[in-house]
Amino acid sequence: MSDKIAYSRHGDIAVLTVQNPPVNALSHAVRQGLWDGMDRAEADAGVRAVLIVGEGRAFFAGADITEFGKPPLDPHLPDLINRIEASPLLVVASMHGVSLGGGLEVALGCHYRIAVPTARVGLPEVHLGLIPGAGGTQRLPRLTGVDAALDVMTTGRQIGAARALDLGIVDVIRDGDPAENGIAYTEKLLADGATRRAVSALPLPDPIDWDGAFDATLARSRGQISPAWCVRAIQSAYDTDFARGLKAERKIFSDLMQTDQRKGMIHAFFSERAVGNLPELKGIAPRPMALVGVIGGGTMGAGIATAALLSGLRVHMLEMSPEAGEAARGRIAGNLSGALKRGKISAAQRDAMLDQALQVTASYDTLADADLVIEAVFEDMGVKKAVFGELDRVCKPGAVLASNTSYLDINEIAATTSRPADVLGLHFFSPAHVMKLLEVVVADKTAADVAATGFALGKALGKISVRAGVCDGFIGNRILSTYRTCADHMILDGASPFQIDQALEAFGFAMGPFAVADLAGLDIGWAVRKRKRAEGLDPRARDAAYADRLCADGHFGQKTGKGYYEYAAGPRARAPNPDVMPLIEAERAAQGITARGFTDAEIVRRYMAAMVNEAARVVGEGIARRPLDVDVTLLFGYGFPRYRGGPLKWADMEGLDALLADIRAYAEEDPYFWQPAPLLEDLAAQGRTFDDLNKEG
Ligand code: CAA
Repeated sequence: MSDKIAYSRHGDIAVLTVQNPPVNALSHAVRQGLWDGMDRAEADAGVRAVLIVGEGRAFFAGADITEFGKPPLDPHLPDLINRIEASPLLVVASMHGVSLGGGLEVALGCHYRIAVPTARVGLPEVHLGLIPGAGGTQRLPRLTGVDAALDVMTTGRQIGAARALDLGIVDVIRDGDPAENGIAYTEKLLADGATRRAVSALPLPDPIDWDGAFDATLARSRGQISPAWCVRAIQSAYDTDFARGLKAERKIFSDLMQTDQRKGMIHAFFSERAVGNLPELKGIAPRPMALVGVIGGGTMGAGIATAALLSGLRVHMLEMSPEAGEAARGRIAGNLSGALKRGKISAAQRDAMLDQALQVTASYDTLADADLVIEAVFEDMGVKKAVFGELDRVCKPGAVLASNTSYLDINEIAATTSRPADVLGLHFFSPAHVMKLLEVVVADKTAADVAATGFALGKALGKISVRAGVCDGFIGNRILSTYRTCADHMILDGASPFQIDQALEAFGFAMGPFAVADLAGLDIGWAVRKRKRAEGLDPRARDAAYADRLCADGHFGQKTGKGYYEYAAGPRARAPNPDVMPLIEAERAAQGITARGFTDAEIVRRYMAAMVNEAARVVGEGIARRPLDVDVTLLFGYGFPRYRGGPLKWADMEGLDALLADIRAYAEEDPYFWQPAPLLEDLAAQGRTFDDLNKEG
């Protein structure tokens, strides 16, 4: 037997205890151990039932994802589950923590299922670009009906034990130790004379309109294909017998395993977990952060305060006047009411957050006790320096001082204080209580435990934190500003903002760059353009000023009802603003440009080439530690399609040689903008990929 499965006897019950920390993934050794454990139980005199239970945090978190893409080893999971189901012994699953993917499929192969009230189940394979591949599409609908099974599979969401009981996925819920519960339940089943109950033998529920469900799922998935294939896999159960249905499921699973979407999503899964893994922070204890000061109660500051309150931290919010303070409190209250509506907190919790955990003040002196202060004031170096001067005066020694600037130089801000080692950037994304990304900007003099505090805060707030170095725009906004410039060049040359948005949304972005600009506020980009022009543009750079006219006329996007689009019918029903194309045409005329057509494919290729090229510079300069840090930044902060893995994973899959060749071809038109990044040239010359750099650590 493998050392991953412990075998023990409790009277006439054989207990197979899974011991594969941290989450009992169904690795080869676990599958083999379960198989051997079933063999042993069946040969063990007097055994009448088998109980399968997990040790530690979970029943099973599913197949071992690290084995994906490698040759599959016997015993395969579907065969193991069939073997469990076909056993002459009564087989019971006792579930706690999560039972996900193959883990739930193992449970469905057992004859009875008991769970603790906190157990959660799900089939999240679509998040890995796959479908359930070990009988889930064939067994689950037989218990729950097709609609509920499709909901579980196509969304990949986890459901709680109570809902699982309603749906017939578990038979009993009981609080207590999973092993003891399982043994007691199995003893009772034996005493009651319960018989084996194979889910595969249950009748099929009513069929649905398969083509309609396939098309609707595909349309909802923004280019991701695996959710729709769940429909076809379930449908196969109706065309044939159970064994052939399983084969059809396996064929779809294996085909999806070969796709770039699967590779992209698994890269995203591991990268999301790797970003916080920084050798220089190993063993460094973060500083305290129980009391957080937030300066500035606009949308961003209120969002940061909301995130901190929702995570159980105390917040002192500083605003300039009592009126501004009341407005800030109102924004926070609105955010918390949203959380209440979504069932995230109770009314009593909201009231406690507003009345006890939050203090709104107009005096810097109330920040004297704060462990960590985050400044979210107007994006202007002079204003920021004044704020940090005050913080230096009032904050206690050791307090962490953070700026939420999106572009400005943290070294320069830190230098205005007498304690630059305590200063770092914490770049949140708006709305800060919703968006998952946090850039932890480590400046030249930032102390290691201050950086560690940034990551600890991110964790406490439920964020994905990425380390970034200091430069204009850090990782995300620096790359954004380059691919946005590329989009502006295409507009000058003949594309429209609306075609560009549509082409990129078809590529899988949640929103195209012009719709995003309208959402963020056109005044932000305007301020950056003005600052860069004031600093002096390189004479070789092309400038696009058409958007300045929109801003000068007071059109800042969604918040003023008009930007690139008009929003008279609400943000979802955007319509192109008819004033935009004449502005663009006037600028083309002024620059003497004759417009030409762009295909959607060309738009995507240039936009992505600009993104990858700048991302390669960001990695090459050490602003991002590894390519995966860029990928995670774009995935969680910029609506990059997860099923493409991130821009640098996408580039690897497209081929760096071909991309570099395109960049060199574009450079013939505009050699200043399209200078190939040295790192991209090096990797292409060596036949290596960005992912090779990730593996170097
Ligand atoms: N295989 C391999 N490793 C896994 C894993 C899996 N299925 N699930 C989690 N891990 C690893 C993580 O990579 C992480 O490793 P590091 O500590 O080295 O970074 C560690 O386990 C802990 O995971 P988290 O940090 O994510 O811990 P958490 O408590 O936040 O979340 C979890 C736990 C809910 C199980 C989450 O990890 C998760 O959602 N895992 C993926 C589950 C999944 O997708 N299962 C389906 C697999 S596909 C399948 O089963 C196909 C099939 O039908 C045959």
